[in-house]
Amino acid sequence: MSARSLLTMVLALAPASLLASEAPRLIETKPGVRYWSTAAQRAVLSRRAHQAGRCGGFRDLTNVKISPHALAPTRLDLYGREPKEQSRVNPIIARADEGALLALVTKLSSFHDRNYQTDLGVQAASFIKDRYVAIAKGRSDIKVDFFAHTDFKQPSVIAEITGSGPQKNEIVVIGGHLDSINQWQGRGGVAPGADDNASGTATVLETFRLLVESGYHPNRTILFMGYAGEEEGLLGSGEIAAWFRNKNRGVVGALQFDMTMYPGSSPRITFITDYTDRDLTKFNERLVDEYVKVKWIEDKCGYACSDHASWTASGYASAFPFETAFDEYNPNIHTPKDTTNILRPGHGVSYVKLAVAYAIELAEAQGTAWRVRR
Ligand code: BES
Ligand code: ZN
Repeated sequence: MSARSLLTMVLALAPASLLASEAPRLIETKPGVRYWSTAAQRAVLSRRAHQAGRCGGFRDLTNVKISPHALAPTRLDLYGREPKEQSRVNPIIARADEGALLALVTKLSSFHDRNYQTDLGVQAASFIKDRYVAIAKGRSDIKVDFFAHTDFKQPSVIAEITGSGPQKNEIVVIGGHLDSINQWQGRGGVAPGADDNASGTATVLETFRLLVESGYHPNRTILFMGYAGEEEGLLGSGEIAAWFRNKNRGVVGALQFDMTMYPGSSPRITFITDYTDRDLTKFNERLVDEYVKVKWIEDKCGYACSDHASWTASGYASAFPFETAFDEYNPNIHTPKDTTNILRPGHGVSYVKLAVAYAIELAEAQGTAWRVRR
């Protein structure tokens, strides 16, 4: 057999994900370690990591560029802050509802996939956007938009409750990725992504619903984000966080929800301490004690494992409350088995309560953000 026909045969048998002969992409595997990679190289990277019993992603920086003219990023001093919004927060978190959360996760995970390159991935983003619009009921201080990306078709979704106080130009972000992936079959594979990350997407949407239905009008502006393309290297959040920095937007904190419903051996909230901000993390731990009243621990991913890392890389403060200790996370993610059957909505509700408390406490916190050279 000629070399040429052998190559044709190999290409015919190769999975679609390996054939995606796109232009090389710039990836970062560790802080400072960057190189241009092919799709096949990236597939090998993530399979090797998974065979070693862990995830092990990379940030795709091809379209993530911070302008040298961007101002320094903003910070709000949170060191030693105490919760002060009990009278607003407590009645709202009392309404957090397991059933509503599970219904959303069930609906989102009923899509065959939410892949960043498929039509269904775009339809899932539209479904989420429509939900935000329906909840907003035409309120004039609420806007819901897609954020379009450079070279893939799934958009991110951003819902805004515009602030009405003296700090209305400062921004509180709550987000999670809306895409899903089948790590073994790529684009065509079934990828329900119930825990990773219908759970986080539903957490953000439910937080929005509870805040809107309570009639709350924040001082700072609150943005609710569903990031596209996280599973291929934090693509959506990378472009978004760089855009906010390049526009000199005053983000005071970005809280990430990615996997919230699998409780592992004992239900508790795990704060990820790498690629996150110490003071924002401590503040959230304080909020768990005050409002959520469940146990929390700290752990590390060891790499830039989710969208919080994009905000950190853009110079902003981020925090990441995760479902379990790192060595106990849901074993079914990235496969067709990531369905609702092993999830616990009661565990997920703790994250909705934390998100409501975070949104209100940070939107109302006294003080003004300043720009920090880093
Ligand atoms: N939800 C995971 C991140 C995760 C998994 C955090 C397990 C903690 C424990 C996320 O969707 C993911 O799969 N991330 C990739 C990295 C990304 C940069 C491509 C990963 O972990 O391999
Ligand atoms: Zn994932």
